[in-house]
Amino acid sequence: MKSKNDLNRTLFEIGQVFIKEGRDYESFKIAVDRYKQLMYDLLGLDLEDGKNRENLSTETGIAIGPTWAAMCLDDITRTQKFVKGIFEAVEELLLKRKDSRPIHILYAGTGPYATLILPVLASYSEKEVKVTLVEINPDSFDHVIHIFKKLGFEGYLQDALQVDATKYQFSKEIEIDIVVSETMQRALDTECQVPIFLNLQNQFGDDLLFIPQQVVLSFGLSQSSSSFDTKPWVEYKPLSFVFALDTYTKRDFLLEGNSINKASRFKKVSRCFSNQKFSDEVLPVILTEIQVFKNNWIRTNESGLTTPKIVSLDLNGLRDFTLDFQYEISDTPQLNISISR
Ligand SMILES: C[S@@+](CC[C@H](N)C(=O)[O-])C[C@H]1O[C@@H](n2cnc3c(N)ncnc32)[C@H](O)[C@@H]1O
Repeated sequence: MKSKNDLNRTLFEIGQVFIKEGRDYESFKIAVDRYKQLMYDLLGLDLEDGKNRENLSTETGIAIGPTWAAMCLDDITRTQKFVKGIFEAVEELLLKRKDSRPIHILYAGTGPYATLILPVLASYSEKEVKVTLVEINPDSFDHVIHIFKKLGFEGYLQDALQVDATKYQFSKEIEIDIVVSETMQRALDTECQVPIFLNLQNQFGDDLLFIPQQVVLSFGLSQSSSSFDTKPWVEYKPLSFVFALDTYTKRDFLLEGNSINKASRFKKVSRCFSNQKFSDEVLPVILTEIQVFKNNWIRTNESGLTTPKIVSLDLNGLRDFTLDFQYEISDTPQLNISISR
């Protein structure tokens, strides 16, 4: 078994790979494999065990089981861009801080590994960074506490809460500098990213630095194209911006001010399209782009989180039409789309 120093060294080195500029996919993959092995050595989580594959249903979305949450690590671009974004945010806040208070990160939805934060913690002292862990799934929560103990990271812990981040009310005294949450699927489908964001923004204010800073949804088209010298590929073209999760969501999209629950209603947004040619080869899609932090964007199709979602609307033969878009928080949140009559 490796010593705590060796474990920290490995996490530190993984972090150094992730924060490199450029798109060195091969070295990111090697770092992710090394990270997975380290987590396996520490926890030995049985990914095949049925219990670990059980999702938890809530009235504001699905919380995925420990197996699926652990496997998010495999989404190389996602993991690399989030870790890099968190590093840059911490670095920026440390440079700006006026007292010796550590930067306090609230990590909502840690999964069993707290994947996005460990390389960051391994790179800073407990005087520089503290973390509050929040996880709804009791098994994932136990696992992440175990990981922190094994790594000797208890000193970084401000708090650890097994609660629902869409509802939990924090004490008024608590100061949070950064919230990290990756509880989303492409098109902001199914999971709790939107209600978590809104609940925390309500409590900590509009200036709260939330990572990811923005999730942008556009309506667009997907089109197979081919040329004689390359194999066929699919092109995606955005036609219109339709929804964003960011500081301005409450102002621009939410109908009634402050209460965030399954009954929270979002504005219906109508968009006119003209001269379109949807067909069996040209399909309507929702495109997702994520601004993790500042220049760190996850663009369309670079990660599982930004895979285009094919819209199940028959637009074949319609040239000019209007679509209505409305986000909905429910037990399976999603962006609803309908043809305007
Ligand atoms: C997509 S996984 C991400 C895991 C890990 N943070 C990562 O990025 O690799 C989301 C995690 O958030 C947890 N989660 C989902 N909804 C939650 C909620 N409302 N409150 C607290 N945790 C939640 C899930 O149980 C799951 O462990």
